[in-house]
Amino acid sequence: MHTESPQKHGRLNRREFARVFTAGGSAALFARVGLSWPRAALPATPNTPDEKFWSNVREQFVMPPGLGVLNAANLCPSPASVLEAMYGNTRDMDQDPSFQNRVKMAEGKENTRRVLAQFLRVTPEEIVIARNTSEGNNLVSSGVDLKAGDEVLLFSDNHPSNLAAWKEKSKRWGFTIRTVEQVNPHPGFEYYLEAFAKALTARTKMLAFTHMTSTVGDLFPANELCRMARERGILTLVDGAQSFGLLDVDLGDMQPDFYTGSGHKWPCGPKEVGVLYINKSAQPKIWASIISAMPGAVGISKTFEAFGQRDEPAIIGLAEALKFQTRIGRPAIEARARSLTQMLIQGLRKLDGVKLWTSQAPSRGAAVVSFLPGNLDIPRLSTALYREHKIGCATRTEADRPGIRFSPHFYNTPAEIERALAAVKKYLAVGI
Ligand SMILES: Cc1ncc(COP(=O)(O)O)c(C=O)c1O
Repeated sequence: MHTESPQKHGRLNRREFARVFTAGGSAALFARVGLSWPRAALPATPNTPDEKFWSNVREQFVMPPGLGVLNAANLCPSPASVLEAMYGNTRDMDQDPSFQNRVKMAEGKENTRRVLAQFLRVTPEEIVIARNTSEGNNLVSSGVDLKAGDEVLLFSDNHPSNLAAWKEKSKRWGFTIRTVEQVNPHPGFEYYLEAFAKALTARTKMLAFTHMTSTVGDLFPANELCRMARERGILTLVDGAQSFGLLDVDLGDMQPDFYTGSGHKWPCGPKEVGVLYINKSAQPKIWASIISAMPGAVGISKTFEAFGQRDEPAIIGLAEALKFQTRIGRPAIEARARSLTQMLIQGLRKLDGVKLWTSQAPSRGAAVVSFLPGNLDIPRLSTALYREHKIGCATRTEADRPGIRFSPHFYNTPAEIERALAAVKKYLAVGI
């Protein structure tokens, strides 16, 4: 890993940082700070992390303190250590693009594979470093051998990359799609276990569902669903876009055939680096869709990950992001995100006119809160939250469960949650 320490180049405080940036542009900035960001060291996580600890964590991000973006389900900021790894390695590669110098980039990619495997509690031989969840899901739906007469069972609230993609491919290969419909509010794990069990038939070859939905944050009993499918010889694809980097996922326990995730969401990694896990037992059952040069070095990556030239500094940055989370502690991160989410849910419950789409039972969700803000215009509310209150959110304007989506993560603060709640309350009272 090539990064340069702030000590080597001298630290800048925030004001100096701003001055250098405005005065000399990015070139001057990089020359002065050596591609590192001034910040205090991250302390060890206390047994009971307090606000002081979380404010130290927040300082590891370059996001300004006044900005409260509650949109982790879409895209998270990366901590400075990730940016330094990306920029440091990019500069290294551009200073000397010879094969000899780039050997270490291939080694960095293999290191990321090992870190990913450890993070998900599986083996490096089962890890494909993909671009994102969309690509992972599509590599599965394009790669498994399905034909007329076979059935694929889907959840109706899957992301398009795990719903529309299967439907499109069924037209080409002739297999049939069956769907379990979403119910709002989340009716409980037992309900869905029964609904999926009922929908499986002797022809079902694949069960593809989302670990946690992006729409309203409904959580699914992934371990039980995978076991149910496994016992019937049915393959499973678990879309982990909303669980990877948020929940303390243990794929060794879940035993899906395929699991997908994006580095730029909850793991706070670089953009366009993600993971496709392929269980050893499923590896003979999937074809590679992309055949090129520069494959990975071990296991399935040798045949499935020959994607040509990659952005290795970004891939190396993902390992840095996962190490950052591991250092803080994954249970602490999940607990923090859940606690901020409960603050939001409890606050929204008290507001007249708000209809919560997200389940109020903490066990049925984690860190996504969606709600209809009375009669308020949704895009205008989102704009007002950002412009007037520096709160970022996502919107949903379709007829099905429209409204605002807040998805807080460990870098958010209780003050940001209070600001968001106070702003929604104000607009409900006086309009926008
Ligand atoms: C459940 C789910 N699956 C897949 C995706 C696609 O993720 P990406 O755009 O990183 O490929 C998303 C994005 O929000 C998602 O929420």
